[in-house]
Amino acid sequence: MTTFVIAVDGPAASGKGTIATRLGAAFGLPVLDTGLLYRGVGVLAERAGADLDDPERVGAVATTLTADLLDDAALRTRAAGELASRVAVHPQVRAALLDFQRSFAARPGGAVLDGRDIGTVICPDAPAKLYVTATPEVRAERRWKQLAGQGESVAYEDVLADIRRRDARDGGREAAPMTQAPDANLLDTTEMTIEQAADAARRIVEAARARWETS
Ligand code: CDP
Ligand code: CDP
Repeated sequence: MTTFVIAVDGPAASGKGTIATRLGAAFGLPVLDTGLLYRGVGVLAERAGADLDDPERVGAVATTLTADLLDDAALRTRAAGELASRVAVHPQVRAALLDFQRSFAARPGGAVLDGRDIGTVICPDAPAKLYVTATPEVRAERRWKQLAGQGESVAYEDVLADIRRRDARDGGREAAPMTQAPDANLLDTTEMTIEQAADAARRIVEAARARWETS
């Protein structure tokens, strides 16, 4: 029997992080926001003056990532999201982050991981998988408000352009592209409040847990 891993994937600002946090609290599981790892590598690579299109160089930077950087507010900025998606195309970067994510997922009591490739590559055997989405316009509005709340005021159109560019890059890359796993539950949160989305996610995971317990 595998441990109870909940894989939460989906595009930028779909609400997957909020849902992952709520699921972690509801099921008593630790949560890993894997996007932060890529954001960390992107920020480190930029600070090092690395050519972001150089897979070997950025891959080497990825091996130096340490947990203390993950709390840095610089990782939550708009710029860091763009840097993250640029470095995330390199297989060398993805390989450098693999063991940490798999070890987190292998915790004896189970875990929740959110990202782009959790249900497809990191934890293909996860007993519970969600693919959270919403229209680009709604996601851009959410991200725009979130950035404003962090003191980063940007035009809505620019945030929408970011979201579209990131969707295309994350979904179009060869290495672990963002895609719904065949056995993932689709959760379209376009018309949902956070509460409604979290409730729907909890119900899906409760059903998956019941199946897992009897398997
Ligand atoms: O919060 P948001 O969805 O905007 O981004 P994030 O989850 O922090 O991820 C930032 C970027 O990291 C994404 O656009 C992906 O390019 C990359 N990423 C990835 O490739 N694989 C993951 N498991 C998580 C993030
Ligand atoms: O992790 P991801 O980038 O997918 O999204 P998030 O950080 O969970 O959510 C992005 C923003 O949208 C946050 O400020 C959430 O509070 C907000 N949100 C929302 O307004 N309605 C939802 N149904 C989900 C998230």
